[in-house]
Order: sequence, then structure tokens, then C-alpha cells
Amino acid sequence: MSKKLKLGVLISGRGSNLQSLIDATKKHDFPAEIVIVIANVPNIAGLEIATKANIPVQIINHKTFNERKSFEDELHGALTKAKVELVCLAGFMRILTDHLINRWLDKIINIHPSLLPSFKGLNTHNRAIESGAKFSGCTIHFVRSEMDCGPIIIQAVIAIKQNDTSDTLASRILVEEHKIYPLAVQLIASKKVSIKNGRVRLRDAVSPRTTLINPR
Ligand code: GRF
Repeated sequence: MSKKLKLGVLISGRGSNLQSLIDATKKHDFPAEIVIVIANVPNIAGLEIATKANIPVQIINHKTFNERKSFEDELHGALTKAKVELVCLAGFMRILTDHLINRWLDKIINIHPSLLPSFKGLNTHNRAIESGAKFSGCTIHFVRSEMDCGPIIIQAVIAIKQNDTSDTLASRILVEEHKIYPLAVQLIASKKVSIKNGRVRLRDAVSPRTTLINPR
């Protein structure tokens, strides 16, 4: 098998998406490997997950920097030193600016728990339920400095049930997050993803025929 794509995963909390990437990389034919996990918050569960998987970790606490630029310089240095080729934001709760994004253009991807471009930002599940929308889901996209924007790579759709709470919806969406993040990485690492006119083009893309109707 050809050389594996080197991933740097950035986290701020629980780390369940990190875990899904670790699980995927354990398969010998998965075309990517995690070379570093960076957290901007100390003592989080995600760091234990990385350590348990023998992945080098680094804490770059944003609170110890006076300005965003120097925080991002530190991130850039750590990613470069680890020879990262693709940065995966996995519940990373800091907004990145062009200062970093331009140096890693089309090399940073993010997971967001809604069907973008709907419900950018925080509190997505509550807002999706309260909007009366019948579907929500999750999105993997390339990162731009505008929050939760950038070319969409892959999405999964979930029907919102009439009695859903933010927690019940979140847990069903999380199951799908754990499927589509490894899938997006696999597509990128297999060089199937390109960007044209701000939109993702997928080589050999096959779209499902199914139409979802909710309620039936
Ligand atoms: C996920 O829901 C992800 O979509 C969002 O933050 C959450 C992180 O969860 N960006 P985890 O830390 O990966 O468990």
C-alpha cells in the first residue's frame, strides 16, 4: 500500500470523533494515520483516548497566549513538526483565523452536527428542533475563516422525531458523525476529493437513490 496520509487531530473535549478516526486507522488498508493529537484544553477525555492509543499528544492552551496569532503560530509549528498533511478538527472549540487557515488551505476539515448551511454555530440540535425542520444531520467540510462555512465533503441525514429532545437527536446524529468522519478522510486520502468553484467534486461519486420523507 502507498504511503498513508498523516493526520493531525485537534480536540477540545470528549473525543468520540477522535475515537472513530482511531478505530478507522486501525484497519490496515485505511489510507491515513494519526501522527499527533493537539488539545487546546488540558485534562479532557479526548487526551486519554489518544494516549491510550499511543498517539503523541500536545496541549496548546489558548489561554496562555495573549493573541490569536501567536496561538495559531504555535499550532502551525506543532503540526508542521509532526509532518501533518491533513488537519481534522474534531470538536475543536476555537475559531481559527485566516492567519492559520491560509497556510493550510484545503488541508483543514471540520465536523459539524447539522446539515450545513443550516444551523451554523452552537446549540444546533435545539435550534433544529425548534425550527420545526423534519431532518437534521451532520456535515464534514473544508474549513474557511467564516465559521462552519467551506466546501461540503459529505453529509448524513437523520429524521427529527416529534418527541426528540436535544439529547436524543444529538445521540442519533453522533452515530452518523462517527461513520462520515472516517469516510471523508478516506476519500481525501485516496485523492478522490477536489474543489472546483468552491464546491467539492468527488471522483466516482455514487448518490443514493432513496428519497427520505418525514413523516411518512
Ligand atoms: C461533535 O458533535 C461534533 O460534531 C462537534 O462537537 C462534538 C464533538 O464531540 N463539532 P466529540 O468530542 O468528538 O465527542
